[in-house]
Amino acid sequence: MMEVKIEKLQMQNLDEFWQVFAQILKADFPGYSKSVVDYFLTRMYLKDNFDHWLKTDWKVILIAKNTKTEVKIIGFAVLDKPYGGVCFCRWLGVLPELRKNGIGRRLIEEWISYAKNCGCDKVEIASQPNAKKFYEKCGLNLEGKRNLSYFGIDQFIFGKVIGEPRDEVMVSE
Ligand SMILES: CC(C)(COP(=O)(O)OP(=O)(O)OC[C@H]1O[C@@H](n2cnc3c(N)ncnc32)[C@H](O)[C@@H]1OP(=O)(O)O)[C@@H](O)C(=O)NCCC(=O)NCCS
Repeated sequence: MMEVKIEKLQMQNLDEFWQVFAQILKADFPGYSKSVVDYFLTRMYLKDNFDHWLKTDWKVILIAKNTKTEVKIIGFAVLDKPYGGVCFCRWLGVLPELRKNGIGRRLIEEWISYAKNCGCDKVEIASQPNAKKFYEKCGLNLEGKRNLSYFGIDQFIFGKVIGEPRDEVMVSE
């Protein structure tokens, strides 16, 4: 029996998160070449960088945890710190063997609820082509397509309006 909890990643679980993050980046983003994935993992999304981002609140990482097994982290959503009233989800993944169990949808729901709590009026994500159906099913709206965008892939732009734009949120910090 699986019991899934979504929560914010704490520093003591950074290693476990990063293993899952690296595994999914290597296996499940077929549009990125091997050297691009290596670049992400050795230059951009290093464990040390996540450590810094967690300490400075520069990113928020939501994790899906199976509370009943030894391997606890089974999915994640890496969120940029809200900017201009928008919360952007940078990465989303669920372990391959546990997909199609509603875990991705729960991460999306938790992301939206986090964004609402921050006072954001919008959430946005850039989807690789093979995840397009998933985002449609989660109720996000297709807002456009970028051809051969960053790091050489087509991206479907999804978003959802979740509130009214508020100046005090947009200009905070
Ligand atoms: C995309 C991903 C996060 C989805 O996670 P998941 O836990 O399998 O998603 P869910 O089980 O919550 O799916 C929600 C709905 O989307 C559907 N769905 C999920 N993945 C799908 C896919 N690849 N194609 C079509 N439909 C899909 C599910 O069947 C479900 O539909 P339902 O409401 O009719 O039952 C997961 O497949 C993944 O990690 N993929 C690799 C990384 C990736 O592509 N991340 C997104 C990058 S932008």
